[in-house]
Amino acid sequence: MSEHGNGSSGDVETSIASKRITDAAAHPHSVTSQAPPTAPGAMEYDYTNFYFGAGKDAFALLAPFDDWWREVKPAGYYLYELPLHSAPSTRVDVEDTKTHEVRSGLINFASYNYLGLSYRPEVKEAIKAAVDQYGGGSSGSPILSGTTELHRRLAEEIADFKKKEAALVFPTGYSANVGTIAGLMRSGDLVVADQYAHASIIDGMILSKATSRFFRHNRVEDLDRKLSGHEGKKLVIIEGVYSMDGDVPPLADIVAVCRKHGARLMIDEAHSAFVYGANGRGVAEDQGMEDEVDIHLGTFSKSLGGQGGYIAGSHQLVNYLRGFSRSRFFSCALSPAVVAGLRKALELARNEPELRTRLWDNVATMQKLLADGGVPTGDSTSQVIPIMVRDDARIFQMGEEIFREGVFINPVKYPAVGKHKSRFRMSISAAHTKEELEEGATAIVRVLRRYGVCQ
Ligand SMILES: Cc1ncc(COP(=O)(O)O)c(C=O)c1O
Repeated sequence: MSEHGNGSSGDVETSIASKRITDAAAHPHSVTSQAPPTAPGAMEYDYTNFYFGAGKDAFALLAPFDDWWREVKPAGYYLYELPLHSAPSTRVDVEDTKTHEVRSGLINFASYNYLGLSYRPEVKEAIKAAVDQYGGGSSGSPILSGTTELHRRLAEEIADFKKKEAALVFPTGYSANVGTIAGLMRSGDLVVADQYAHASIIDGMILSKATSRFFRHNRVEDLDRKLSGHEGKKLVIIEGVYSMDGDVPPLADIVAVCRKHGARLMIDEAHSAFVYGANGRGVAEDQGMEDEVDIHLGTFSKSLGGQGGYIAGSHQLVNYLRGFSRSRFFSCALSPAVVAGLRKALELARNEPELRTRLWDNVATMQKLLADGGVPTGDSTSQVIPIMVRDDARIFQMGEEIFREGVFINPVKYPAVGKHKSRFRMSISAAHTKEELEEGATAIVRVLRRYGVCQ
């Protein structure tokens, strides 16, 4: 069984669900009366219970799921999809869907806005100017009418930033992974990914129909084993910073194993580009391995505070994927306004290395605050800090109390991570003040102490 439940450890087909509802109609949460169901143990169910089910109707699982959801929502699941009424800054106004109040000024540890760029005045101005010139959407696939001059320039600027021959822009980071993996690999090929790989990597593997294998997280000997015995084409996929754990891969060792087996290497730097490396090019730059990696992938939705994804590499790679990445080819291009904001955010990230310095300073401050409070943070060495609660039953209660203490942070439990691996996933930003870090950490430690997570 995988440590993370989002589909890994070599069991792609059954990654999301392991349990079946053998008879949807007899399921305790299939009650269809007006009164909410009162089945005991509802909190012991999770999404996996509603994945497979008996019956001929394609909608057979909808009513049981709906009933279960209504029952568990007030008990903590409501903490998902709380609408924000403000920019994803270091303080946010968040709607409490339980009380229907908007809670103002919560300290925000939930957004990927690592450099605080999404709401910078320069970025907003660039977006407004593009709306005036281009209107709302791009109204076409990038290969037909959807490419504006802004899109072309963004791709050139990303290639220049990454010091690669070319780059290709996708509508999202998710579609960049799906389109690249399925665009390149075929049935009979082998794709091997780290067991903690993001869902978009896993979905790309499924879509490619290649043989999928997973190696134990950051364990090079296991990668070696998983690559053995396959004569055909091979692709290895790792991440720069792992999104639920905040740790980084040992690149030199991974590169050596890839070379031994003649495998190509792709790195997803969604959380590490613009954060790691002397020039912010990511973990590959930081570990001196940029030329050894064949495909550099990233998103615009994290440090650049916008939306979209990209790959950077050789001209030949980009040219091939321009023709074979269906998730790009058959999807509308990014809105020109988003692209204009991204170009400005990229310029700021390149010209203001002090943003990275401030971020790393804030990371060190928070790591110390949490360590002093006795809070377990796994193997994280980055701005992604998992607060390891490991209490699947009570994480929502803790989350509710942390929320009421004035902190916005997301609980993560199975199936997003493995069973008994529940955590709060903390994101640090360069924009956090020391006071916000201290106040936020103090509130979190106070709640976790009440639950015995730390002393
Ligand atoms: C490692 C990784 N890759 C890809 C993605 C998908 O990126 P996006 O949200 O831009 O579609 C994510 C999203 O969180 C991620 O963590």
